Amino acid sequence: MKELNVAVVGLGLQGERHARGFFKMPLVNLAAVCDLNEARGKKLAGELSAKYYSDFSQMLEQEKLDAVDISLPDNMHLEAIRKAVACGKHILVEKPMASTLEDAQAVYELVKDYDKVFTIGHLLRFDPRYSGAHTSVQSGAVGVPVSFYARRNSPIAGPLHYRGFTDLSMHVMVHDIDALEWILGQRITKVFAKKKDEVLREYGMTDCILATCTTEGGAIGCIEACWILPTTLPGSIDDKLEIIGTKGVIYTDSCDSGITIVNGSRADAPDSRHWPDINGEVSGDLYEELTDFVNCIIRGVPSVVTPADGLSTLKVVDAVKRSIASGKEEPVV
Ligand SMILES: NC(=O)c1ccc[n+]([C@@H]2O[C@H](COP(=O)([O-])OP(=O)(O)OC[C@H]3O[C@@H](n4cnc5c(N)ncnc54)[C@H](O)[C@@H]3O)[C@@H](O)[C@H]2O)c1
Repeated sequence: MKELNVAVVGLGLQGERHARGFFKMPLVNLAAVCDLNEARGKKLAGELSAKYYSDFSQMLEQEKLDAVDISLPDNMHLEAIRKAVACGKHILVEKPMASTLEDAQAVYELVKDYDKVFTIGHLLRFDPRYSGAHTSVQSGAVGVPVSFYARRNSPIAGPLHYRGFTDLSMHVMVHDIDALEWILGQRITKVFAKKKDEVLREYGMTDCILATCTTEGGAIGCIEACWILPTTLPGSIDDKLEIIGTKGVIYTDSCDSGITIVNGSRADAPDSRHWPDINGEVSGDLYEELTDFVNCIIRGVPSVVTPADGLSTLKVVDAVKRSIASGKEEPVV
């Protein structure tokens, strides 16, 4: 069996994890990595025996790649996808698919009939808890969905890292929007959202958003996102999911990561789901997501996360923003 030649562009917090994940994978050759930051790129390239590039176009021209992983900042996704499509590469782009609805529509037009794998890093598709909720709802185990609650709250380190590049609805809420539409098997059609900014106002950013949503099947629910929690929070995310159906209820709660380490200064609950370090290697949902991308390429099948799903999340984000601005319920269009 031939090895797949893969490259990662954008080697920040997330791209480095992706590169390490591909490096660990059998039948995958992490051929090259690319980042504007030469010191960061060269260091990782050296560690992972990959070629370093500072320019994405040059990497696409000079390397014989099968696939590219785009882990650039949200607002650079469209341009990078355009270049990768022009070169006929299989593509995994980190979520969100694009940073505006307009860009998402442009990406959708580019890849809706693409004959290569195109997928988006919606990590919760590979989280056993969210996938369990999906299976239960889809099998009818809890009857017809009536209401839902999804929460994703995290420490303030996130918005301080992303200052100026992204916002709460696009960066954080997209996770739950995509997960809910997948679990329920229904698109969100209406949104009434409110926001609050106190702590992050000086950076023009939002502290917290609550969005009441209605789905095409008539279920109602709330998505909560907040990223101003203290950095001393034990664990990096406080997330919950609850689905109430006509015949039952599903609860997930990941505040308890299954491990708590207490020492003199604090209690810590290290990640055991998304990208835990197991014997020095990236594991967890992220590794499942990367493996799924590679499997889709090898088997010649589309990914479970489609361009239409990516576009839909951005449509809901757009409705969240319009509703915050208008103070009214807004349709998802
Ligand atoms: N799935 C998840 O849970 C999750 C978590 C974090 C981030 N993300 C997503 O991953 C993506 C990257 O986020 P991050 O946290 O790694 O951001 P980051 O700011 O830490 O890293 C971005 C990297 O891109 C590099 N870069 C910028 N412009 C470039 C260019 N023109 N060419 C090459 N490199 C360039 C920067 O030097 C930096 O190293 C974003 O889309 C983000 O939303 C997803």
